[in-house]
Amino acid sequence: MIDRVVKMKTKILSALKSKNDYVSGEELSSQLGITRSAVWKNINLLKKEGYMIDSVRNRGYKLEKCPDIIDAEAVRAKLNVKNIGQKIVVMKTVDSTNDEVKRRALQGEPDGLIVISDEQTAGKGRFGRVWKSDKGSGLYFSLLMRPELPPSDISAITLAAGFAVCLAVREYTGCDAKIKWPNDVIIGSKKICGILTEMAAQSDRLDYVVIGIGINVNHTEFPEEIKYKASSLKLESGREIDRNDFFVEVIRQLDIVLSSFLVSISLDDMDKFKSICATLGRNVSVERSGKIIEGIAVDINTAGELLIRSEGKEIKVNSGEVTVQGIY
Ligand code: BTN
Repeated sequence: MIDRVVKMKTKILSALKSKNDYVSGEELSSQLGITRSAVWKNINLLKKEGYMIDSVRNRGYKLEKCPDIIDAEAVRAKLNVKNIGQKIVVMKTVDSTNDEVKRRALQGEPDGLIVISDEQTAGKGRFGRVWKSDKGSGLYFSLLMRPELPPSDISAITLAAGFAVCLAVREYTGCDAKIKWPNDVIIGSKKICGILTEMAAQSDRLDYVVIGIGINVNHTEFPEEIKYKASSLKLESGREIDRNDFFVEVIRQLDIVLSSFLVSISLDDMDKFKSICATLGRNVSVERSGKIIEGIAVDINTAGELLIRSEGKEIKVNSGEVTVQGIY
């Protein structure tokens, strides 16, 4: 029953969207095979959800403005994916999409599930930090993968997700997005996306991986403590971004990039990720066992580890916060 109501609302919405003018109640009722009073009831449901619909006697209904919410139907209608995003769950609110995907993974959800939420009440960043996730301006979502890969490939998976986000940003906004090793996507010297990858594994094989992605889309302000290093797609591109359309582009790229290595990660893949990594070739510093190591980031190996040349030695770093000179 609920499903039928949702479908009818969606059909009315697409009829209104397809015509940038008034559509009469009569036309909608005969097109959709429902009574005019059912049309009216559905229009009221849409208005309650935040759609601004003008109704004029003898002319009908005109869609003036859509609310800025993640619209599951609109996203699904535009997607044509092989793997990632075959099932998309849209939530209004959740503690953390990573935690929600983990709960669902434990119940046996298959590879490719995406959970996106308009807001998170306990959004998580790396190193136990909070990822502020107010509704309306960002994209907060997590995806489930069950790749046949060893746990040591987790860093490479994160790099791949960052690479896919970079491609989506480049395609959709024209901005020169790059990876800041290992988990951030930046434009210029500012962070527009953070990735938190979590996993459950046996000793030699991943059970599942949850890739959580937070993107600053239409933010215009940031808290004082991150102002110097945070930006958004809107600030960088100079235009308001349609979150639904951009989300579709991100899933499309994730599907292409991640589907290719559900069973192995090739050197070619790694070369692609390295080609847009802003960390390489720069002076970096990283804390290790209480000591600050300074050097030049020279390479990323197949396991996704950063190689730093410092005082004549090559040091492998697989996690930790790396400060990159000129970035943050
Ligand atoms: C970081 O840069 O520290 C990583 C931030 C990751 C944030 C995303 S938002 C969606 C997903 N759910 C979470 O709780 N965190 C990730």
